[in-house]
Amino acid sequence: MRDFLINISKNEIAAHQERLKYCGITNITSCFDEDVQKKLKEEANSIFNMRSKRKDFISTHTHTPRNMFTVSEVDITNTSRIIKEFYYSSDLLGLLSEMAMEKVNFLPWTGERYVINGLVNNKDTHGWHWDDYAYALVFIAECPPRGAGGEVECVSNTNWIKSNPNIRHIVNTRPVQSYYFEPGSFYFMKSDTTLHRVSNIDQPYQRLSIAMSYCNQADLSKDMDHLTVYDLYG
Ligand SMILES: [Fe+2]
Repeated sequence: MRDFLINISKNEIAAHQERLKYCGITNITSCFDEDVQKKLKEEANSIFNMRSKRKDFISTHTHTPRNMFTVSEVDITNTSRIIKEFYYSSDLLGLLSEMAMEKVNFLPWTGERYVINGLVNNKDTHGWHWDDYAYALVFIAECPPRGAGGEVECVSNTNWIKSNPNIRHIVNTRPVQSYYFEPGSFYFMKSDTTLHRVSNIDQPYQRLSIAMSYCNQADLSKDMDHLTVYDLYG
């Protein structure tokens, strides 16, 4: 799998930079060819059907719900060809760095590089949280039609104070932006400073996504405990 990126103009790059900075999220689907969308979708469905595990709990770190199926990085690494090749593309890393306006790196820790999340049962949700690392690139393999849940909701430019996340206060006092991404979409998020969740889905639809994490230079010297990853993907 080579050359899956489509060249976009300087003006489009500038628009992504602005959205990432102010909204914390930008839809970058137009950067990818249809062939890679098709292959990622097929592989995500295939691995999910073989390896997904059910998770139902309230996160002790954010006090928000997780009702979903997940596939761990190890299970993807052992079974994937496309996702691995996609994640480790140096051209992709260059594009993400340009949009982020800083050097973006592969994660130093393997356990969170790529995972699969599935909302399948009625009212499944991936509740409010921030990510450990600076950036997330998410591919939407399956999603309900508009209006049937599974939207990404965000509060940009917020900080995860681990001793007191105070999510209810943030959500009640700051504007929450809602984004719908159709199947085949990619979004790029400043995920350590954008409070985000995926809203409940309504049956019979499901939402399946590949979440890939990348970090900035500052992350490389941080001491991460990875506790939220063990809860969800362990
Ligand atoms: Fe996240």
